[in-house]
Amino acid sequence: MIMSINSIGREIDFSVLVCGFQYPREKKIMAEKILVTGAFGQIGTELVEALQKKHGVNNVVALGHRNIPPDFKGVLEKGGTEDKEAMDTLLKKHKITQIYHLASILSATGEKNPQLAWDINVNSLKNILDLAVEHKAKVLLPSSIAVFGPTTPRKNTPQHTMLEPTTMYGVTKVTGELLCQYYSLKYGLDVRGIRYPGLISWKTEPGGGTTDYAVAIFYEAIKTGNYACYLRDDTTMPMMYMDDAIKGTIQIMEADKDKIKVKTSYNLAAISFSPKEIAAEIKKHIPGFKCSYTPDFRQKIADSWPMSIDDSDARKEWGWKHDFDLPKMVAEMLKHLKKKLGKQLVK
Ligand code: SER
Repeated sequence: MIMSINSIGREIDFSVLVCGFQYPREKKIMAEKILVTGAFGQIGTELVEALQKKHGVNNVVALGHRNIPPDFKGVLEKGGTEDKEAMDTLLKKHKITQIYHLASILSATGEKNPQLAWDINVNSLKNILDLAVEHKAKVLLPSSIAVFGPTTPRKNTPQHTMLEPTTMYGVTKVTGELLCQYYSLKYGLDVRGIRYPGLISWKTEPGGGTTDYAVAIFYEAIKTGNYACYLRDDTTMPMMYMDDAIKGTIQIMEADKDKIKVKTSYNLAAISFSPKEIAAEIKKHIPGFKCSYTPDFRQKIADSWPMSIDDSDARKEWGWKHDFDLPKMVAEMLKHLKKKLGKQLVK
């Protein structure tokens, strides 16, 4: 059987032979039409670009309401995800087949405004799941290491373990995972989830996370040569460079459906380090760099999360593999940020 993708993205099966002439017969329907919510957040900014490269600019719809770059090139929809009717209209208008539902409130912001965290992370997610069933769209759920809590084993945290989080963010993410599994079991919804560790990127700054010191530290190292960290120096947490996160996110959505055995969310790991360890790695590039440590309310959040993650299910079932270790990630971050900030490194 000969397959090809034609110019509008239809998969063609050339196997039909009539009177010695081969007639093309269309097998699958249309190219994927992808919606990314939270499109201008930390993950969204880079994911939209990667998806545009893969599927074509016109097949990716970016939905966001803040931080929209004036020079954004692509299909843009402005708004939030709370209004179910508006979301329904949007899905119909663009004939959406896949939703990367990234719009979310992170841990530190969630502690300041628990109601907002619930509204966005649970109520909006439920709307999206209902609509995805109706529109037969595939969904990506961004979950987090915040689903774990003080009763979870902190080292090499297993895929299936205690989930008793003590932050509102964690509570909403466990609820979201269980909702996704329920929709998969009850309605056959194709939903795939990742428990992201702390994500480190240079293109977009994160907002309101406990792991965000691992991004802020680079900006301050380059700009001033000093950083005041809000965690204890030995607070080890699981982290990942954004390039790996984007690769894993697309990979799980592209995996064959029967490979996705976990219907809540997959553990995903790359590196684990403490503020002291990342500061030492930065010092190799900026010898005069100094980091001080004054823990605030985020220390309690970090102490309730794992130090390292067992992600062997993701590796076995759909082939997850990370590329960036700590030295490689630090070198990349400094190289790109130095260029972005237009500065020489502080000595
Ligand atoms: N990066 C997130 C946070 O710190 C964890 O998923 O809130």
